[in-house]
Amino acid sequence: MKKVGIEAISLYTPRYYLDLKTLAAARGTDAEKYYNGLGQERMAVAPPDEDIVTMSANAVKVALEGIDYREIDTLMLATESGIDQSKAAAIYVHSLVGLPSTCKAFELKQACCSSTAGILSALALVQMNPRKKVVLVASDIARYGLGTPGEPTAGAGAVALVISADPKLVAFDPENGSYTADVMDFWRPNYMDQAMVDGKYSIRVYLKALSESWNEYVKASGREFNDHYRYCYHMPFTRMAEKGHLHLAKYSAPEGISKDMLKDQIYSAQRYNRLTGNLYTGSLYEALTSLLESRDKLDDRRVGMFSYGSGCMGIFFSGVVQKGYRNYLKTDAHRQMLEARIDLPYGDYEDMYKAVLPQDGSDAQTMHYETGLYRLAGISGHKRIYETVGSIADRHNEKTSVDQQQIPREKASQQGRR
Ligand code: HMG
Repeated sequence: MKKVGIEAISLYTPRYYLDLKTLAAARGTDAEKYYNGLGQERMAVAPPDEDIVTMSANAVKVALEGIDYREIDTLMLATESGIDQSKAAAIYVHSLVGLPSTCKAFELKQACCSSTAGILSALALVQMNPRKKVVLVASDIARYGLGTPGEPTAGAGAVALVISADPKLVAFDPENGSYTADVMDFWRPNYMDQAMVDGKYSIRVYLKALSESWNEYVKASGREFNDHYRYCYHMPFTRMAEKGHLHLAKYSAPEGISKDMLKDQIYSAQRYNRLTGNLYTGSLYEALTSLLESRDKLDDRRVGMFSYGSGCMGIFFSGVVQKGYRNYLKTDAHRQMLEARIDLPYGDYEDMYKAVLPQDGSDAQTMHYETGLYRLAGISGHKRIYETVGSIADRHNEKTSVDQQQIPREKASQQGRR
């Protein structure tokens, strides 16, 4: 069977974040609960002129640097923050990025796991025709009610992966194990713009889905716990990876694992997620990006990956990091993006949170915030209007330092998103 896997990977997250110490102070909570109890330091906040389309377009544009657009057969967009019931957000991204009309574009849904379902479909597609490439972008704004237990696990961002028969980063193993069950641990009815969640129950369902899909993966592949050098998990909050890994080790690692082994096996994958919060569909692939861009030497090493989507579906799969992979990463751009973000005061966060596009079909324009290369300009005649506001060259030349940045003085109250 031909090697198929990830040729390029790119992460995008908005330019604003809320430090969870700021949130803890506003909620009268001990910040240690967020920093250590949940393992989160910052949550990315999308300004009113960013949505899943602008975030996806940013991630895809960078992922495709140096790749011939004519080779891209399909663009798949995985999300649970959809902006339209009919038209795929992927079509807007296709247009903003400038993909050719021969490239198909559509949207996928099954909570956080649809990105992995898309990757499995992409692998089959490329196996059938190794000259074709697929771009899978996972993009979400994770949003919970203000003051709810879920709030400190919110986040926003997109991850784009180019899947091809030239897997410069990771070649996927052909086997996977999956588990699907009809449960109500987390969902978002059409009339709500924030998730409903049974938090403690969702953790139990996650762990069950993990062990069940692991069992199926082991049956299919014959591999065992120690056959994987590192593990990446879907991370609604980074301590969930620890809970998952200890759960897996408890019955599948014969001698158990020490604290040091736990740290070695998952720590490098947790770093970026701690700084953005939950990316929903992008979370596992942000973890993989974080691992690949860490100091770990991963050439020829196998990584185990667990994808979970509430509702629920779990998929356990694996891949082997390719020799020389470091030469194809976008590590500097990602670090620069994470470092150059703007730390929001609590009031600005709440203003951005409360800013919603008109729900009655009237037109609206959004104010300009700091965004990536694209922004949502507003709504006109029930149509979303997007615009390009920069180029990759501008981004590379940007020397923004954290002290030079300013919070836009205008408040977001008359702005919108979604
Ligand atoms: P909570 O009930 O407020 O938190 O919400 P808690 O009381 O369970 O505390 C959390 C941890 O902090 C605990 O540690 C506490 O002991 C510790 P643990 O017992 O778990 O080891 N703690 C402290 N530590 C240090 N200093 C302190 C302190 N106080 C407490 N002072 C919950 C937690 C996760 C339930 C909530 O944030 C939530 O509902 N989140 C959203 C749902 C979620 O993330 N579920 C995870 C699995 S489902 C999933 O992954 C799918 C999802 O991504 C969606 C999708 O698929 O689309 C969400």
